[in-house]
Amino acid sequence: MKRSVIVGVGRYLPKRVVTNFDLEKMMDTSDAWIRERTGIVERRFAEGEETTSYMGAEASKKALNMAGMKAEDIDFIILATLSPDYFFPGSGCLMQDHLGIPGIGALDVRNQCTGFVYGLAVADQFIKTGMYKNILVVGSEVQSNGLNLSTQGRDVAVIFGDGAGAVVVSAANDNNKGILTSILHADGKHHKELWGKNPGSSSRPFVSHEMIEEGSIYPHMNGKSVFKHAITRFPAVIREALESTGYTTKDVDLVIPHQANERITEAVQIRLELPREKVYRNIHKYGNTTAASIPIALSEALEEGLIKEGSLVCLAAFGSGFTWAASLVRW
Ligand code: UT7
Repeated sequence: MKRSVIVGVGRYLPKRVVTNFDLEKMMDTSDAWIRERTGIVERRFAEGEETTSYMGAEASKKALNMAGMKAEDIDFIILATLSPDYFFPGSGCLMQDHLGIPGIGALDVRNQCTGFVYGLAVADQFIKTGMYKNILVVGSEVQSNGLNLSTQGRDVAVIFGDGAGAVVVSAANDNNKGILTSILHADGKHHKELWGKNPGSSSRPFVSHEMIEEGSIYPHMNGKSVFKHAITRFPAVIREALESTGYTTKDVDLVIPHQANERITEAVQIRLELPREKVYRNIHKYGNTTAASIPIALSEALEEGLIKEGSLVCLAAFGSGFTWAASLVRW
């Protein structure tokens, strides 16, 4: 059976940097509160042409460049996002258009913070069955213009940021490398703990002035509940991925967790009894970029030389749904 190997990684971050001090001017918050509770120092906010599909395409071009491929070499696109350019059509189609590769299939994955790991699992299955050879898996988010950037929305607004990351996954015959396993979970009974209620097809009408006035068009989060679930689900799914492949935490070279909150990452590291340098962090620079956070982190970790040929890397995420997932990759 073919193995799915990540042969290219790229990222795109919007040019506009928004610091905690900038947020202090918009709402009643403070740099000290944000740093202490989340570890975030600054994030990026998209502007102008920087849409979800555009940024996804830009990150993809860098991943293609690293892989030594042209866009024409790709035969399927998987785009994970909770912030598509439009309610429909899917932004994967728009991204395909930006890349100038009409005709190939394009699939949107709507699994929020775990979207990239879910997308990688889908790509892995397509490759193993022989259906496709080279797949782009992308996470891209423009969340800033959907946040309530006033004091009323501060608990959510200070956490999230924009950006995109992409990988090229290719079929290989090398049994010693590639995606070893993917573990995917969800529990929909918690869907109201972190959600964007309106607008949506469950509301009649689809959108109203009341929704805007009451603020239900903005994301809502029960931060304490999300935190509590995250710090148990993250370690559990990482252990599950390791155990299912015969490894232990001692074998892991690098865990790249979805960058949700520095305190969550720290709790995961402690629960797994891993040294700090084995759990990657870049939330201080970008905040929580949802589906984009893992491929952005992967791209930076590679550049920093933290991943080498043969490294055992675990990608793991938890988020809205609730959903949680992990992927174990031999580099
Ligand atoms: O991918 C998953 C995404 N989500 C997450 O990872 C979120 C997980 N949850 C968290 O990270 C934390 O729950 C938060 C960072 C969101 C909040 O931290 P917390 O320690 O749970 O704070 P809290 O909600 O209990 O709020 C403490 C206080 C409150 O004031 P009072 O009631 O004690 O007077 C809040 O009103 O902090 C206040 N507060 C803020 N103050 C300044 C809430 N947001 C802010 C803010 N700036 N941005």
